[in-house]
Amino acid sequence: MSSKLEKDAAWEGSILGTIYKQLFVHPKPIPSTIRLDGQTAIITGANGGLGFEAARHLLRLGLSRLVVAVRSQNNGESAASKLRTEFPSANIEVSILDLSDYDSVTAFAKRCQQLERIDYAILNAGLQSSKFERNDRTDHEVVFQTNYLSTALLLLLLTPIMKEKKRNDTTRKPPVLTAVGSDTMYFAEFEASRPIFPRMDDPARYTQYQQYRDSKLFLMMFVSRLAEQLDPEDIIVSVCNPGLTAGTGFTHDIENPGFVDRYIIPLFVKAMGRTTPVGASNYLHALVIGGQESHGGFFSDWTIKPYPALMYKKEGRDLTERLWQETMAELKSTSALGLRTST
Ligand SMILES: NC(=O)c1ccc[n+]([C@@H]2O[C@H](COP(=O)([O-])OP(=O)(O)OC[C@H]3O[C@@H](n4cnc5c(N)ncnc54)[C@H](OP(=O)(O)O)[C@@H]3O)[C@@H](O)[C@H]2O)c1
Repeated sequence: MSSKLEKDAAWEGSILGTIYKQLFVHPKPIPSTIRLDGQTAIITGANGGLGFEAARHLLRLGLSRLVVAVRSQNNGESAASKLRTEFPSANIEVSILDLSDYDSVTAFAKRCQQLERIDYAILNAGLQSSKFERNDRTDHEVVFQTNYLSTALLLLLLTPIMKEKKRNDTTRKPPVLTAVGSDTMYFAEFEASRPIFPRMDDPARYTQYQQYRDSKLFLMMFVSRLAEQLDPEDIIVSVCNPGLTAGTGFTHDIENPGFVDRYIIPLFVKAMGRTTPVGASNYLHALVIGGQESHGGFFSDWTIKPYPALMYKKEGRDLTERLWQETMAELKSTSALGLRTST
């Protein structure tokens, strides 16, 4: 469906469009008939911020089993304990997932194989950073590694697992696997003709906001390409977006902030940002309302939205293809091959 919304892409990628949706577009109610009793969900980065609120949304609808996928056992246990107090009848477990390490991603996916069913997975963990930093294990820049490369690997690993579990029970609806993107991707610009990874790993090119929105653009491109080879009767894959949301851990890492980061951005977030429950309700809608029309698409502001304008052009299609090739080459050379992927 996102592929048919080209005419709306310019508005979504405008400052006015961004301000309008932040201030005047409000959550739609979830029909009272929707219940998640008996179902299982995985949420990455569920120890705080939007992931934690998404967990509460799902549990409020009666979700029976939740996997809180986090990089710190202590933070995960502390979140799980709060959730168990609020939802005593749910089965809530903590599972370690560190997106800076492909082995950790693979080990996590292997543990997911043991779950009896997986109805929903929200790949929410992500970050932005004011400083360029290399991931020791892969030599890639950390934001690119976390938001894109390791998330792409997890998408590839979870897809066949979730499909398989659904195949064992034909009465189930297709499972939904959604990765958390950002509408900042509408402002990304990236030239298609040259290799992508060296540019994402180049400290001279690095700025916090550019790296973040490029990483989220790539996530959208990757999901749209992955969806082409999946039948939405078997599994629905999408990207969802909370919109600018205040009160999460998101901007805490800025070292020596300048005037804009110290005063203007916080003011902007305060004035325009959604509350965490409102932002996270977008995830819930992507899972239970989005349906097959959201397959391969972008779910934001409680509905299906267009891709960035670039993705409708030949240049954007070329970039998507190059990204896919570079990503598969990277991931095939990792120990991630220990599990069967969907390609
Ligand atoms: N807040 C916004 O305005 C906004 C807008 C659009 C999209 N988003 C997206 O929403 C998602 C959640 O962000 P948030 O605002 O809720 O921020 P947050 O409170 O900082 O949550 C981010 C989560 O990601 C986890 N994480 C970071 N690096 C990780 C790694 N290497 N391995 C495993 N987990 C890792 C964090 O774990 P630790 O607690 O251990 O650091 C944390 O649980 C992100 O993908 C973000 O890009 C946010």
